[in-house]
Amino acid sequence: MSILKEIQKRKTFAIISHPDAGKTTLTEKLLLYSGAIQIAGAVKSNKIKKTATSDFLDIEKQRGISVASSVLSFNYKDHKINLLDTPGHKDFAEDTYRTLTAVDSVILVIDCVKGVEEQTEKLMQVCRLRNTPVIIFINKLDREGRSPIELLDEIEEKLSIKVRPMTFPFGMGISFRGVYNIYKNEFEFYQTNKQQIEDDVKKFSGIDDPELSNTFGEDVLTLQEDVELIDGIYDDFDTEKYSAGEQAPVFFGSALNNFGVKELLDTFVEIAPSPVARETTKGMIEPTEEKLSGFVFKIHANIDPKHRDRMAFVRICSGHFERNKYYHHVRLKRQIKFPNPASFLAQSKSLVESAYPGDVIGLYDSGTFKIGDTLTEGESFMFKGIPRFSPEIFRIVINKDPFKSKQLEKGLLQLTDEGLAQLFIQKDTNKKVIGVVGELQFDVIKYRLLKEFGATCDFTFMEAYKAFWLKFESQSDADELFRLRSNSLYTDKTGNVVFIAESPFSLSRAQEKNPKVEFLSQVEHNDQTVELESIT
Ligand code: G4P
Repeated sequence: MSILKEIQKRKTFAIISHPDAGKTTLTEKLLLYSGAIQIAGAVKSNKIKKTATSDFLDIEKQRGISVASSVLSFNYKDHKINLLDTPGHKDFAEDTYRTLTAVDSVILVIDCVKGVEEQTEKLMQVCRLRNTPVIIFINKLDREGRSPIELLDEIEEKLSIKVRPMTFPFGMGISFRGVYNIYKNEFEFYQTNKQQIEDDVKKFSGIDDPELSNTFGEDVLTLQEDVELIDGIYDDFDTEKYSAGEQAPVFFGSALNNFGVKELLDTFVEIAPSPVARETTKGMIEPTEEKLSGFVFKIHANIDPKHRDRMAFVRICSGHFERNKYYHHVRLKRQIKFPNPASFLAQSKSLVESAYPGDVIGLYDSGTFKIGDTLTEGESFMFKGIPRFSPEIFRIVINKDPFKSKQLEKGLLQLTDEGLAQLFIQKDTNKKVIGVVGELQFDVIKYRLLKEFGATCDFTFMEAYKAFWLKFESQSDADELFRLRSNSLYTDKTGNVVFIAESPFSLSRAQEKNPKVEFLSQVEHNDQTVELESIT
């Protein structure tokens, strides 16, 4: 098969949601429909949770939280689908944000009872950075939720995206009768706890088909009014607007009851984009380019608890990857070959001989990779757009075993290379500060430092609001910062100068006093802002 055909076959996406909206359940149902797993009937999500998502870390099992994301690949209707799973817990949001840089589209799950929640908004902001196309699945229609129109309004307003309902529910909760597919003029009848995956669909000639009244009686008027209203309010579905991330098609259903999922998957394979071009430091790279390129978006530790191996997940962006061929590690300026690259078909990991744009491969790694690293066939460019956000919680690292300082240092460097947390070192004192998005990360770090590196440490409280990467032309522009606030100045791992503000007030004071300095709360992994070495 030609490379172009291989590219067109692929759809690489992620399912995102606020925790508990039904992401895991929907993932399982998609796997069921595709035939990637066979479990009779609608099973409780926990049963598959253990096998369908990766459970590599012990801590993940202990806490029952999906700490790390994984890749699930499956075939459906001549397409190869790569589903990148993302951790639902908000404390691991950074991992999710990075995974979003490796997909070409997303399915967003919204709970019809709760509507747009906090994490939904944050995730959509990240999708917006790259105009990622979004399909929305409004879930849990078997429950008494908010009115569908109200939900659609809320989505448009809070997520700043135009919506286009593709199906529309008839009733909700105990009176839920099914969904009408506006484009196909079909009605899918709802059944509670549908035990088999089968269609229960009736075709009509249109929303005014008299057969609809014969089927539903007088109640059908509500459905007819709703569908007519929708056609009046919302623009028709437009593939171009969807691909540009401007319009989101919306489906209604109940993942738990296998309802509305097939419709979603069928439309997904029809409209979701195949691998798209990606921005690099030398311009856009098309997937059809002959030479291989790809980037590391995730590093996963402890695949095999007996070894200290890590696995670097690489998204192939162009060309053709082959096992045992030498590739260029751009940051290290080194040629490396990979004898055991892994692919992830359904739930099993297997050796991969070759991979194409859109695929994600796992490379065993003993510390050669960092998030954002690029592989090429000799060229020196890096992929852009892999975000690094300011952490929200900061703690000072206290070494509890002076004989293990080296281990602690190594452990902190490795864990922060994986993107588990960010490390900042105070300019004058060498004090180490760890910044994270959620408290839980400190437990993970402590646990892994001890288990993998034999180092024990504590974290003490630090009064801090946010970290800001500084951008300025010359040191005199930042004179006040260096003279009076040097104990708030740190370096990150790449040597960039960072200002950790104690409070929003101290930030605005610093901004007032240093008007020529830019304070950035978000940079990219391969960005260099101002290196401390260059000014001191
Ligand atoms: P998440 O990955 O987004 O965090 O959500 P998950 O799929 O784990 O679903 C969260 C809860 O919502 C689960 O219930 C799940 O069964 C339920 N759920 C998912 N889809 C539907 C739906 O269509 N209708 C209804 N009524 N519930 C749904 P749980 O009690 O927390 O867990 P479990 O014991 O059922 O696994």
